[in-house]
Amino acid sequence: MNMHVGDNDISHVVEADKAHVWHHLTQHKKFDAADPLIIVEGKGLHVWNQAGRKHLDAVSGGVWTVNVGYGRESIANAVRDQLVKMNFFGGTMGTIPGALFAERLIEKMPGMSRVYYSNSGSEANEKTFKIVRQISHNVYGGKKSKILYRQRDYHGTTITCLSAGGQDERKGQYGPFTPDFVEVPHCLEYRSQWGEVDDYGIRAANAIEDVILREGPDTVGALCLEPVTAGGGVITPPEGYWPRVREICDKYNILLLIDEVVCGMGRTGTWFGYQNYGIEPDMVTMAKGVASGYAAISCTVTTEKVFNMFKENPDDPMSYFRDISTFGGCTAGPAAAMANMDILEQENLLENTVKMGEYLMEGLEGLKAKHQIIGDVRGKGLFCGAELVADRETKEPVPESVTQAIVAECFKADAVVIGATNRSLAGLNNTLCLSPALICTKDHIDEIVTSIDGAIARVTA
Ligand SMILES: Cc1ncc(COP(=O)(O)O)c(C=O)c1O
Repeated sequence: MNMHVGDNDISHVVEADKAHVWHHLTQHKKFDAADPLIIVEGKGLHVWNQAGRKHLDAVSGGVWTVNVGYGRESIANAVRDQLVKMNFFGGTMGTIPGALFAERLIEKMPGMSRVYYSNSGSEANEKTFKIVRQISHNVYGGKKSKILYRQRDYHGTTITCLSAGGQDERKGQYGPFTPDFVEVPHCLEYRSQWGEVDDYGIRAANAIEDVILREGPDTVGALCLEPVTAGGGVITPPEGYWPRVREICDKYNILLLIDEVVCGMGRTGTWFGYQNYGIEPDMVTMAKGVASGYAAISCTVTTEKVFNMFKENPDDPMSYFRDISTFGGCTAGPAAAMANMDILEQENLLENTVKMGEYLMEGLEGLKAKHQIIGDVRGKGLFCGAELVADRETKEPVPESVTQAIVAECFKADAVVIGATNRSLAGLNNTLCLSPALICTKDHIDEIVTSIDGAIARVTA
């Protein structure tokens, strides 16, 4: 429709959205009777919708992405300047921001060496799976092709990423899946699979070794894990887990792939989530917070040892990494990522994340002391969750409808946007998720915690 959209009336935008946009993760029947929400503007931690209502965003763009907050002119300017100078060239060539961001990134990741650019978290993870499969062909004569993933983890939306997905509801109806992906047990002590054990972290890591021995170590090429499980219920790793995981991978010559799509770029108070646990990975993927959503960029980062396996045999025309991502050559991504990193450094946002993360956890502990429905609170930095139960003794999870009612109540009553595990794990979509931008203050956190307090009181009344 050829129509001028006035500054104060965006009703046509709503009509166009309703008529033509297929929203993510959304059952559209509700839009027969209601309008979709259009987010029009953002500044700091706040966004405004089409009706002019101001919301406090406690989940950084809904999906833990806008780490430095909305309305950052320095990032927009860096992208604009770069686009005017040189917007794109396919990744067989280099670009100035591509080279310079890779250098800065590797400075933050001791032990890592090479950066491969693409556009989404899913795509970055697909690259690691292709690398593992090609190493299997080139180095192990077809052995070591299996990739282990963990129950409750998520690694993306493509069929192969779903094959590595530990969330039954996300996978449901999308099979058949890519073969040779094998699940290992989750590491959530609150829902221990082995009853009360003294050293749950070691026990959960050893359960990975059990799977490796069952499958045969010479069939397993890699283990792919989130540092802190995000959408699967904000699962912080138990004491001792990560060092033991690294030990097991070394023992059986298995590559450790760490999916930092959510935790990367400061979310947990360190540059990368794994850096909280004193280990070094073989490959790391990242996306969301890399440019805080100001441009689409993802990175697959490897050690020089992994990289060299694709370089050592130039006489074999099939031995190099024969992969391309067209938009991995967009310069907007690394230009935005550098400006994003400037903000994280200049505003000391890692320190703020640690401090505000502790304050948020105190707030959640306070809510747990007050409300029986909160069975467990977990978090690292500014990625925190509260697991809701119908009964604290039995730990029976609340139905997803109750979790969603609390999210909806925060939204309706206080215009506070919080998140929750949703349609991920049958019977276990019961964790409220909080991941405010890393610039948040005590006032923002007070507002979020107060809103959840009131919402729980009303929903459980
Ligand atoms: C841990 C993790 N890995 C990968 C992905 C996939 O990222 P993308 O949606 O950018 O493909 C997500 C998305 O939420 C995620 O949470």
